[in-house]
Amino acid sequence: MMQTIERYLADNKDRFVRELLDFLKIPSVSAISTHNGDTRKAGEWVRDQLNAAGVKAELVETEGHPIVYGEWTKAKGAPTVLVYGHYDVQPVDPLNEWKTPPFQPDIREGHVFARGATDDKGQMLTHVKSAEAWLKSSGSLPVNLKFVIEGEEEVGSNNLDLFLEARRKQLACDVAVVSDTSQYAPGIPAITYGLRGIVACELTVHGPRQDLHSGIFGGSIANPCNVLAKLIAQLHDDDGRVQVPGFYDDVAELSAEERREFQSLPFDEAAFLKELGSPKTCGEKGYSTLERRWARPTCDVNGLTGGYQGEGPKTIIPAKASAKITCRLVPDQDNDRIIAAVEKFFRDRCPKAVRMEFKIYHGCPATVCDIHSPWMKAARAAIKKGFGKEPVLIREGGSIPVVGTFKKLLGVDTLLLGWGQNTDNLHGPNERFSLDAFHSGIHSSAALWEELARK
Ligand code: BES
Ligand code: MN
Repeated sequence: MMQTIERYLADNKDRFVRELLDFLKIPSVSAISTHNGDTRKAGEWVRDQLNAAGVKAELVETEGHPIVYGEWTKAKGAPTVLVYGHYDVQPVDPLNEWKTPPFQPDIREGHVFARGATDDKGQMLTHVKSAEAWLKSSGSLPVNLKFVIEGEEEVGSNNLDLFLEARRKQLACDVAVVSDTSQYAPGIPAITYGLRGIVACELTVHGPRQDLHSGIFGGSIANPCNVLAKLIAQLHDDDGRVQVPGFYDDVAELSAEERREFQSLPFDEAAFLKELGSPKTCGEKGYSTLERRWARPTCDVNGLTGGYQGEGPKTIIPAKASAKITCRLVPDQDNDRIIAAVEKFFRDRCPKAVRMEFKIYHGCPATVCDIHSPWMKAARAAIKKGFGKEPVLIREGGSIPVVGTFKKLLGVDTLLLGWGQNTDNLHGPNERFSLDAFHSGIHSSAALWEELARK
């Protein structure tokens, strides 16, 4: 990388951190409407940062939170790279478990602690800063850059697809870049080439019109909590296999080579369990922990409600019970087919003595990118430069819906270059981001533009 850029990054290192702290002070919680003004402010902050960097940017209104769109497209004949990220953050509760307030960023132990530190403000900002470094120090970039930074990722990206479809032509590109995943482990940077998909639904079982005395009526009227528990208990067999008919029909088995690749990654099961505070691993029989997390589909209850939740006993037949459920999907499962099969599974098994309600929230398929593409080679080289270490190739169990949309709509692969760690408490209290990772991420990103231009 050019000397002048290295110099610019060194000279401006402290300011970059100060600006990250300013960004983290904006409580842009997309799920909570009283924060709508703040969420917008974070969008405006990103827009202003891009403009100051020399990337012409605007706020694009949607039905929900605005999308920041920016571009610098003066690199004639060079590849065009689409950078995606999100400026919205998850809610902060449980608030009393934070050691320092979530929107008063605190630096300790080499990390900045704040909601959104890694997911995704800190990670996303690395690409804005690397673009700034190129444009301010050399007046140009080796590639064309288009930025799409949205404010609704944490609530399902419902307005993003409309924007992408409407601007399909303007968004034409050769490859997409997203930093919203994790490294494999501390000191082991990674490129994520696969993500699981997801379907999200809620199953509600309705019984009597209102809660009834369980002594007077119990045994004669169906209990929605009992019914729901039995339905959920039927989801898995004793080998951890999901029992929804057709669930595994389209599941692509791992190749022997990919299994070997997974096995060759360092994985300490005892340390893993200790970190999570869990006594023992479990899951689908015949698969390793990494295989279960990255390449096997799941069905999990995320929340269960019904009946009396207060202190002490209470004798009722509750009026209703419900479960929030998500399935993580792998190639080549179709999210629409799976959610239909899950609904049918419950309908076929739900007794006539209750009424069943089924609500679908969102869904997206799994994605796997070509690991042999020239873009991948460029990303490897860039990470080597930024982190001083060759990255490992990994898959991840989480989901980023836009990755599938980029493939479908724009025909491009996405380079998932995560600078964070899975132990950075994303979505939980005391979220953090390593400042070393922030700077190494900026360096990697600055090198990436040059490496991508080489191809
Ligand atoms: N950044 C995460 C996804 C992620 C984190 C992937 C770490 C791999 C490693 C993202 O913001 C997220 O949480 N996505 C949701 C998607 C859903 C709401 C559609 C998820 O995976 O639950
Ligand atoms: Mn994220």
